[in-house]
Amino acid sequence: MVTRQPLGNSLDRLAKIAEVRLNREDRPMTREEILEGVKDCDGLISLPYDRVDGELMDASGRLKVISNHAVGYDNIDVEAATKRGIFVTNTPDVLTETTADLAWALILATARRLTEAERFLREGRWRSWSPGLMVGTDIYGKTLGILGMGRIGVAVARRAQGFNMKVLYSDVFRNERAEKELGIEYADLKRVLKESDFVSVHVPLMPSTRHFVGEAELNLMKRSAILVNTSRGPVVDELALYKALNERRIAGAGLDVFEREPIEPENPLLRLNNVVLVPHIGSASIDTRIAMGDLAVKNLMATLQGRMPPALVNKEILKTKPLTS
Ligand code: GLV
Repeated sequence: MVTRQPLGNSLDRLAKIAEVRLNREDRPMTREEILEGVKDCDGLISLPYDRVDGELMDASGRLKVISNHAVGYDNIDVEAATKRGIFVTNTPDVLTETTADLAWALILATARRLTEAERFLREGRWRSWSPGLMVGTDIYGKTLGILGMGRIGVAVARRAQGFNMKVLYSDVFRNERAEKELGIEYADLKRVLKESDFVSVHVPLMPSTRHFVGEAELNLMKRSAILVNTSRGPVVDELALYKALNERRIAGAGLDVFEREPIEPENPLLRLNNVVLVPHIGSASIDTRIAMGDLAVKNLMATLQGRMPPALVNKEILKTKPLTS
């Protein structure tokens, strides 16, 4: 079962070894449709908004692999899958650089008020060149704080070199290789928040990172600081963020992800000018989306054929269900 058509032609390859049940509509499947559609399926290609829990796994009756068309897999109950002997895979690496590009696009757009300035121009309010018109903040030579120095965090840090930035990072693990290669500095979370002009979030969503950036963390940030989130919405306490932005306790935010997606029309963030908001497009380049579809299909096919998939999430499953490499 494929819950939505991936970009590219990866499904043609899949169709050579399996009967493909595909949602051909340009909308996510409803819960009921997925529960019905997954019946008797050996594999599932899911998307970030598909909640893949024990009930859905049981609805299949024979599911062997869940291939998530995303690097984040917070939509999947991995423990429930492992318990049932179901492999879970994702699409890391292929989207690293593209997502880092978007984090940087948000840093630049928020610092230089790009979307606000464009709205101003389109609304016909541009009357003159003025020394104070749409003045933003500099990026060059400032301090960038990165929360989570995994693959995407490293790619974001690498781009900061071109801006001559000092980079501080916090993580549960130290990344000494990145420290050496990029001259970045490990610090505790408090120090990263206190000293950074820009804070970019790159931690995965899991129970321990829900509201990882909340009121206390926002209060530690400089009043001139900008927060960027391209990971998952619930990693940031959105109400606390709204208040901090509204009261100008921080200067701005660039957000690709939200606590509820798609964003609801009553979300108060929509009323603020000091935010740049985009609709969860971190990995949205043509090449990367094709590569994600390819990898999702490769993961699925390899597992169904008893081979090691390129990106297995629940490796512990190999103890009871070994695959050939
Ligand atoms: C998208 O958000 C992903 O996790 O790949």
